[in-house]
Amino acid sequence: MATVARSILLLNLLLIGRSLAHTISGVDSKEPLYTGLSCTGEPLGMESGLIPDDSITASSHISRSFAPIYARLNVGDTFWIPQYTIASWIQVDLGLPSPAVTGLIVQGLRDAHVTTFNVQYSDDGGAESWTYLVDTDGETIRFDGNYNGEQRTVNFPVVQRTRFLRILPQSYNFQSPSLKFEVLGCQVTFEDDGLVRLVEGDDELSGRVEIVHEGSWGAVCDTNWDFKDATAVCRQLGFEEASKAKIGSYFGATELPIVMDRVNCKGTEKHLADCAFVCMGEVQTCKNTAGVVCKPNTIRLAGGGNKTRGQVELFKNDAWGAICDTDWDIIDAGVVCRQLGFSGAKEAKSGSYFGEPEGPKYMQGVTCNGTEAKITDCPSLCWDAPKCSSTETAGVVCL
Ligand SMILES: *[C@@H]1O[C@H](CO)[C@@H](O)[C@H](O)[C@H]1NC(C)=O
Ligand SMILES: *[C@@H]1O[C@H](CO)[C@@H](O)[C@H](O)[C@H]1NC(C)=O
Repeated sequence: MATVARSILLLNLLLIGRSLAHTISGVDSKEPLYTGLSCTGEPLGMESGLIPDDSITASSHISRSFAPIYARLNVGDTFWIPQYTIASWIQVDLGLPSPAVTGLIVQGLRDAHVTTFNVQYSDDGGAESWTYLVDTDGETIRFDGNYNGEQRTVNFPVVQRTRFLRILPQSYNFQSPSLKFEVLGCQVTFEDDGLVRLVEGDDELSGRVEIVHEGSWGAVCDTNWDFKDATAVCRQLGFEEASKAKIGSYFGATELPIVMDRVNCKGTEKHLADCAFVCMGEVQTCKNTAGVVCKPNTIRLAGGGNKTRGQVELFKNDAWGAICDTDWDIIDAGVVCRQLGFSGAKEAKSGSYFGEPEGPKYMQGVTCNGTEAKITDCPSLCWDAPKCSSTETAGVVCL
């Protein structure tokens, strides 16, 4: 059975052409699905009518009077009546790309119901695309529906990402068995897509690159990986510059699916996902992962409570020091904010707005013209011995 399930899965992978990946180790990348997400299993819209009638199809025994829509939990005394053969099924198009499905609520008529059933799922509903829900041993699960009239929740062992779901009755306790159900799950949104992180590095500046793709962490292939690509990763992580691009699984191999290959950044991107790349498909393979080493920043915002605001501090001679607020304005603040990866400045703050810093002061009378890439490229009256007190330092609020 495990072999059958696996070959169906492989067939499925060959037929659907989206976000497919082979991991370096050859482990099938379709698993795990959303195990890391909190998905509490709300009704996905059968009962509410969110899923329209024509999204429910079936091979029914008496299709006219007991049409598939009567499989909804809220249709009073009317139930869907399957054919007696085990080839019978009822199918729902959940309509949404990739909801996470956690289970079902099922109900049968007292003494006339489906007592056991299987469940299949599919990304595209195509004839060859269906995969059975299997247990951890790879055996097709036979779910218990023998609740004699009551509504019961049936939990799936793994939260499945899918669009189409089928219930296939396997046994009955009366010749006209009945079934109603609702699908439980979460409408997965991919708001985290594109987030990056570095893993197994020597410190927070280095590591193997991982990126969120369709809600799950994936890895990046090292083919054509270069300094410009590393720069996009470092910028996204809040560093100004990259120091090295690492190839050949320098920071280790991965079990994760490879979701980006042949990354080709221009060098101006602030996010890795903004760069051109090739999605991994079933014909491509990837032997090694991409890594980066970022340069430690020489500028930071302190005392603002979050990364978007604070007192401007520079790293020089092994110490962080603040900038004097003499002539500090929105143009100077804009250079700082852009240097830190923001689109610009909202406010320039004077008078040690974010606290009174101890330690050295660097730069006084900064007069940027706004085109500079770094605040240290801007002219100032003096760099190393400015005459300002701890109550006269510069801050920014970035956009
Ligand atoms: C940063 O903190 C300020 C002030 O508390 C707040 O208005 C702003 O929304 C915060 N920004 C972020 C990105 O958290
Ligand atoms: C702005 O300042 C930079 C560096 O000080 C200088 O190279 C550039 O020519 C200036 N641009 C304008 C438009 O003044």
